[in-house]
Amino acid sequence: MAANRPALTRYLIERQRAGRINADLRLLIETCARACKAIGFQVDKGALAGVGASLGVQNVQAEDQKKLDVVSNEILLEANEWGGNLAALASEEMEVPAQIPSAFPRGEYLLLFDPLDGSSNIDVNIPVGTIFSVLRCPERITQPDEACFLQTGRAQVAAGFATYGPSTILVLTVGDGAHGFTLDPYMSSFVLTHPDIRIPEDTSEFAINVSNMRRWEPPVKRYIDECLAGKDGPRGKDFNMRWVASMVADVFRVLSRGGIFMYPRDAKHKEGRLRLMYEANPMAFIVEQAGGAATDGSTPILDIKPKGLHQRIAVVLGSKNEVERVTSYHVEK
Ligand code: F6P
Repeated sequence: MAANRPALTRYLIERQRAGRINADLRLLIETCARACKAIGFQVDKGALAGVGASLGVQNVQAEDQKKLDVVSNEILLEANEWGGNLAALASEEMEVPAQIPSAFPRGEYLLLFDPLDGSSNIDVNIPVGTIFSVLRCPERITQPDEACFLQTGRAQVAAGFATYGPSTILVLTVGDGAHGFTLDPYMSSFVLTHPDIRIPEDTSEFAINVSNMRRWEPPVKRYIDECLAGKDGPRGKDFNMRWVASMVADVFRVLSRGGIFMYPRDAKHKEGRLRLMYEANPMAFIVEQAGGAATDGSTPILDIKPKGLHQRIAVVLGSKNEVERVTSYHVEK
């Protein structure tokens, strides 16, 4: 039984033995998983810990900062600063990268994270999560600045996200498939429950914030109009719609049963809504590893050359054939 369902530690040791990751990257992933457990425990406390409380200030994204956004950021920083495997860290909650304190050795990796994705949902007890991405630090750099982080998503060596929902689940890739681990709260251990996740190529479920419809570009409007027309329209079948408004939960659903998730550019979100470096890139890496596709409407997310640490981007990801259809509508426009 144990051999069928290895714990995260065993899974990572086996990836190391297979030469897929080194000891430093293994420690880094284990540390992120431990930090996710700690954040998950805080999320679980809910109103008892005042987690939804607003701090009355805005983060670098001009979004209302919650107490738990800040707590989650601190948990990830403190967990990762001393391991000797990181050169610097960047977060949604910090305008510029954090350096490794001089008391600790510096390592070869760069870590980016969104400590609490979907945090506007905390008050209403809807799943939130943590997203992270790992890059290599360019050689001979001692104080990595923002420019060191601006690598394409294809350069990622690992990516993962946790959802704090009915159960806490960690989805991870080190470039050889996407795998899901469920937290056993009694053992405090992540157990491999969703090995080698595959996204079905076809789907009849879409996820988009329809309240933005009047601002969409024509290819997106055409795609959703056709889904809504269902059996009576050109698609000849009915579509279902889901929108949790927590990217981690929406993407986990797509990984679990297929679907297309879209946050396109529109007249209000001119660059898109989601962040390239610590939301779109890690999710695109995971989705591609699961056999899905992820684009900004035309270009694969992982091939986009970043312009800034907090850059926003349009996202269309999920079941391959639907993502390709949306791309073809952008080409035809
Ligand atoms: O990036 C933040 C985020 O909360 C995502 O998790 C989610 O997909 C999106 O924003 C929701 O946006 P909206 O509030 O426009 O539906």
